[in-house]
This record gives sequence, structure tokens and C-alpha cells, in this order.
Amino acid sequence: MTRGDSPEKELAAIKGTKDILPGEVESWQRLESVARRTFELYGYRELRAPIFEATELFEKGTGRTSDVVTKEMYTFTDKAGRSLTLRPEYTPSVVRAIIEHRLDLQPEPMRYYYMGPMFRYDKPQKGRYRQFHQVDVEVFGEKDAAVDAELIEMAHSLLARLNISATDTLVNSVGCRACRPAYGRALREAARKKMAVLCLDCQRKVETNPLRIFDCKLEACRRAAESFPLILDHLCEECREHFKALLGWLDLLRIRYRVEPRLVRGLDYYTKTTFEIVSGSLGAQNSLLGGGRYDDMMKDFGGPDICGTGFAMGMERVLSVAALAPEKRKVLYLAYLGEQAKKAGMELGRFFRRNDVECLIEFKDRGMKAHFGRANKLQAAWVLIVGEDELRKARFGLKEMATGRQVEGTREELLATLQGR
Ligand code: HAM
Repeated sequence: MTRGDSPEKELAAIKGTKDILPGEVESWQRLESVARRTFELYGYRELRAPIFEATELFEKGTGRTSDVVTKEMYTFTDKAGRSLTLRPEYTPSVVRAIIEHRLDLQPEPMRYYYMGPMFRYDKPQKGRYRQFHQVDVEVFGEKDAAVDAELIEMAHSLLARLNISATDTLVNSVGCRACRPAYGRALREAARKKMAVLCLDCQRKVETNPLRIFDCKLEACRRAAESFPLILDHLCEECREHFKALLGWLDLLRIRYRVEPRLVRGLDYYTKTTFEIVSGSLGAQNSLLGGGRYDDMMKDFGGPDICGTGFAMGMERVLSVAALAPEKRKVLYLAYLGEQAKKAGMELGRFFRRNDVECLIEFKDRGMKAHFGRANKLQAAWVLIVGEDELRKARFGLKEMATGRQVEGTREELLATLQGR
């Protein structure tokens, strides 16, 4: 610590990261359990991969021309001199895990979900963090556009369960390796004509991957991109049919969407379907979730030729628009009076907890008034009174805080009362 720095500053959380404190964490838990339940209804199972991976995995998967890889990765060299990266996204990790464990040979459908932290070194702002959390789902081995539609429908169902409305669903197709090269050439040609107005970054993208110009948020580049040819006009027969089928499925499911022909999404691996759900109440970082199809990644990693599709949802962003009322906890506060009652209280606490009653004992010798003051402050639902008298009779007092109702009984009788029997 240098002189003048306050200790708090020195030890503060790193910029772009956040503590999730009690009071807030309950909404996260609710989101996690709603998401888990939703995915299970569609046949997904959880797959947990490590937080860091070989840097090459993301270079190959996320893509060498993506902003995520070129600018935003948390890359470090470990003690063995290996380049490792804190995962900026989850998709390449799942694909690696499938290949490594030959999950494609298992009888279960390859539908996976995961929730956890991701890391991107970008300028922090509202809705954009350096450690953020995603809920991610991936399906493998399903070529049919119906599964892309099912994913979008599942995303809607999840958002509805979270009471999130007023969203827009954007869909597009970015073609495949058969149709994209010709489109890339047409795009490059158009972009070269606008070179003078493009930012330095986009000027570079003209040569490396002109599709990435559509990711640029700068007004001048966006305006220039408006005159560029659109991928939808350059799709091959197969991609056109796939996209038509997707829209047909969305219509069948009565899902409102908007075709957004410039929705290329910032990652290099997409083929055919891309989609995003955005929220008007989020400001600049308005994407709640995004995803699409990536039919070549597994093959490109040296694995079997199995297609993939999925999406990831930003948990911070969802929580900032979701109206999640945390469940009210029902805590029993155990008020003991004296040393003997403290010992008996420990036993009683164990009894109630083993019977699924949340029971809090604070090991501070208090008088009855102080106990009740504290129980009030903690918003305890009940107070269990354990004094010497109660101990002698093996009958205890139980007070319901909201009504003031007080009953007396053995621990078994009180348990029945607490359980509403
Ligand atoms: P992505 O669009 O990069 O896609 O991220 C998905 C979501 O993560 C975004 O819509 C946003 O809600 C959230 N997000 C991204 N970056 C940040 C950040 N810095 N701070 C807060 N939230 C953020 C992917 O990651 C792909 N892996 C999705 C996918 C899965 N595609 C196919 N399968």
C-alpha cells in the first residue's frame, strides 16, 4: 500500500467485478432454479466445464477475428509456460468436453446447460462487466431448424417464468461455408469503397473478416454498413431453405420476431441461424440473450462432424429487468436464557433443523427483551423460548412474531405447529 491510499481502496474488488451479497443472492438463486427447471422440461442436463482452458480453444472456437479474442480475453501464462485463458464464453468448452469424453457415443440426447461466470476485458459500463454470468444451453446433432425454433421458444418460456416481457426477438441467417465466401467478397468490395469513413478497427476487418464490421457500434461504421450487401440475399439453397423453415416454425409457435439481416453476432463460429432477444429497458447493452447455430466447430476441433446450436443469457442483465420477488424465509429464532438452556438449545436446534426448520441461534447471552428485539430485527417468523423453567418441564414456549400468538409444548408438539400440522 502506498501512502495516502486508503486500505479499502487497496483491497476493493477488481473493476468490472461485483460481490453478490445476501439480500441480492436470493434473486440469483431464484433465477438459477427457474432456469434449471425450464431446461429440464426440454430434456437438458447440466455439464460443468472448468473456468480456464487452453487459450487456443477460444482462438479456434470463438474465432481469431472476433473482438472477444482479439481484445477481451483474460490470458495468462501458467508456471509450466502454457497459455491459458479465463473462458470468455462457454460454447467452445462444451464442444471440447464432448470430444474429450466421446459424449456423442452415449445414448442420451446431447442437450446441455450450464450457469457460471465468464470473463471479458471490455470497458465496464451498465450491463457490461468483466466477470459476468451466463446461463448457457447447447444442443448437438440436431440439424433441423425446428430445434433452433424450440430454443427460441424455450428462451421465451424462461423469460415469461421470470416475468420479463417487452422484449424483441431478432433472427437472421449468416449462411455457411458454401455461401459465405462469395458473400464475403461482395461485402469486402462494398466496404473498400467506404474505407475513408470506417474506423481503424473496421478498416482492418475489411481485409481480415468484413462480416465483423457489422459488430461495430460506432455511428459512422453503422451508417456505412447500411449500404453493404445483405447475407440473406446471398444464401445458398440449403441455408435459404433452413431459414425459411425456421421462420415457419416460429410462426407455428406464434412467436413474434423480426428478421434483422445485419445480426451477425460477435463470434466467428455461427452458421445459418443467429438470434438475439433484446430488451428496451436495458439501454446500450440491450441484449438479454443471444445464440445460433455452429455446425462446423466440432469438426474444426478435430472431433466428429456433429452440428451444434444454442444460446447464452446474461444473468446480470436478466436480473436487472426481472421482477423476482424472493421467497420469504421462515426462520425460528432460538432464545436461550442461561448456560443450561444454551446447551439444551444446541440440542433443540439440531432437532428442528433435522426436521427441516430453519433455526438460528446466536451465541450471545441475552435477556429475553434483547432476544425479542434481535428476533424482530432479523424478521424471524417465530421465537422459541428456552429458559430454566422450560427445561425442567421439557416444554417450551413458541411465539409467532406476526400475530403475537404464543403456544407451549414439547419439541415434537412445537414441530407439528411449525409444520402447520
Ligand atoms: P454472447 O452474445 O457473446 O454469446 O453473450 C451472450 C449474452 O451474455 C449476451 O446477450 C449478454 O446478455 C451477456 N453478456 C455478454 N457479455 C457480457 C458482459 N461483458 N457483461 C454482462 N453480460 C454480458 C455467447 O457468449 C455465445 N456463447 C452464445 C451461444 C451459445 N451461441 C451458441 N451457443
